[in-house]
Amino acid sequence: MNLILMGLPGAGKGTQAEYIVDDFKVVHISTGDMFRQAMSAETEIGMKAKSFIDKGELVPDEVTSGIVKERLAQEDVKKSGYMLDGFPRTIAQAESLETITSELDQPIDGVIYIDVPADKLVDRLSGRFICKNCGATYHKIFNQPKVEGTCDVCGQHEFYQRDDDKPETVKNRLDVNIKMNTPLIDFYENKGLLYKIDGDKDIDDVYAEVQSVINGLK
Ligand code: AP5
Ligand code: MG
Repeated sequence: MNLILMGLPGAGKGTQAEYIVDDFKVVHISTGDMFRQAMSAETEIGMKAKSFIDKGELVPDEVTSGIVKERLAQEDVKKSGYMLDGFPRTIAQAESLETITSELDQPIDGVIYIDVPADKLVDRLSGRFICKNCGATYHKIFNQPKVEGTCDVCGQHEFYQRDDDKPETVKNRLDVNIKMNTPLIDFYENKGLLYKIDGDKDIDDVYAEVQSVINGLK
């Protein structure tokens, strides 16, 4: 199974990805997570990405497509399939992905677009917090840990907020992504691959819809 998860910042890509990986055992490939790892390791790609991410801009296509190409060629992806989260975000990236997946003979089975009205996203991003140890994502109102201050997944107690969730960065992130969104949706709709999901519901209800789309692709 080869999937793409699309949606504006805060739409719930990462949250749904955690459920999808548990049930369908695909390899989760989040370009945002890869850039954050590269930034904390202070690699060359990390340093380059940081200058864009800190401003809420997109990292240039050639850098982003390059890391995806490398990751998709790895053995685990060949064996279990992929779930791209946050890639592609531009038509140029979507076109590179067509080339990469056809070279690897790993065609896309479906593109799930999590649709949430833009005016709900600022609250989602500003309330997000993440486990420092395992990366599980929570929200101070909509998605709290079962025991306050303790991660449900790994039991640790330290959390952080992403730097790009600051209000001044969030606005630009949303503007940039909204502009790119429609052409990409059209791109995959024209290929008959797009499945639009209502993401403005409880996390479990969104997942029920995601799950039924994926089951229909099998
Ligand atoms: P990335 O890390 O991908 O960020 P993003 O696209 O802005 O998306 P987020 O991770 O912020 O949101 P999400 O949809 O995963 O939501 P989540 O599940 O966490 O990319 C970061 C940056 O890297 C980009 O800005 C760009 O600079 C660069 N980059 C990455 N990919 C790139 C590319 N392809 N090209 C160029 N540059 C690229 O949920 C958000 C919050 O809401 C959480 O608190 C969660 O608990 C809560 N929540 C989730 N679902 C629900 C629900 N149904 N109801 C209520 N609350 C919910
Ligand atoms: Mg995410």
